[in-house]
Amino acid sequence: MQVIQLSDPHIDHRFPQKAAAFARAVAHVNTMPVLPDAVILTGDCTEHARADEYALFRDLLGALRVPVFLVPGNHDDRAALLELFPPPPTRLPDFMQYAVEDFPLRLIGLDTQRPGHGGGQLDRERLDWLEARLREAPERPTLLFMHHPPVRTGLDVMDGMDLRGREALCDLLLEHPQVLRVAAGHLHMNLTARFAHTTVMTCPGTDATLNPDLNRAAQLVVQRQPPMCLLHHWTPETGLNTFTQVIEPAPWHTLFDGQAWHDFERPNGAHHPH
Ligand SMILES: [Fe+2]
Repeated sequence: MQVIQLSDPHIDHRFPQKAAAFARAVAHVNTMPVLPDAVILTGDCTEHARADEYALFRDLLGALRVPVFLVPGNHDDRAALLELFPPPPTRLPDFMQYAVEDFPLRLIGLDTQRPGHGGGQLDRERLDWLEARLREAPERPTLLFMHHPPVRTGLDVMDGMDLRGREALCDLLLEHPQVLRVAAGHLHMNLTARFAHTTVMTCPGTDATLNPDLNRAAQLVVQRQPPMCLLHHWTPETGLNTFTQVIEPAPWHTLFDGQAWHDFERPNGAHHPH
């Protein structure tokens, strides 16, 4: 089973290049040699939660050839998202928080929004719902996805917008080793960290990947790099592996055809013994 994670499109009525970048991310998914089973989109769909921005976002997303599941970011309007993208039936009422039961890897989307704040929150209600879901299926491999990562980055600006309730989430996940990954967004960076018995990964943005200068923690100084997405691949044999993909058109190349190696420079039948 393959799940592509996209994050933080920030569709912005002032900057059409954000929409163009998101369209390229959708095309990236649609032109994979085998379509993934699903896309998860970890929030900040639009910059201002304006109706015209959501309309554009929905149109661009409409081109996607696979089912998509989203959770809100701090820039989103929860009510608007709930109306535009009704969640699956196993859900917490009044939140964009739900379980996707259609696949061998169980996907659970958490709503970390704290309206009016850049930071996120998992309060008792949302954590209790998650605990009930995890308790009912302790044997099912599970991926959690959410906007705010439950980590401290060391960057003051980002840590000022972090996730309230992450200690309680950590305690809960210590009881549930079936959670194989926590997949988040928000940072527009590629970060991997240990959390409880599992691993947190943050997905870069569909517009750019930010490389932070961690030596200047009080500022936010970054290199702007090409956008990326994550490919979460699960099989019973391998468990869950997460690959990072740059969102940039490139031809597919057979390096090993099952019998012989072909390097990039001599693609046609050149034998490359190993
Ligand atoms: Fe965010």
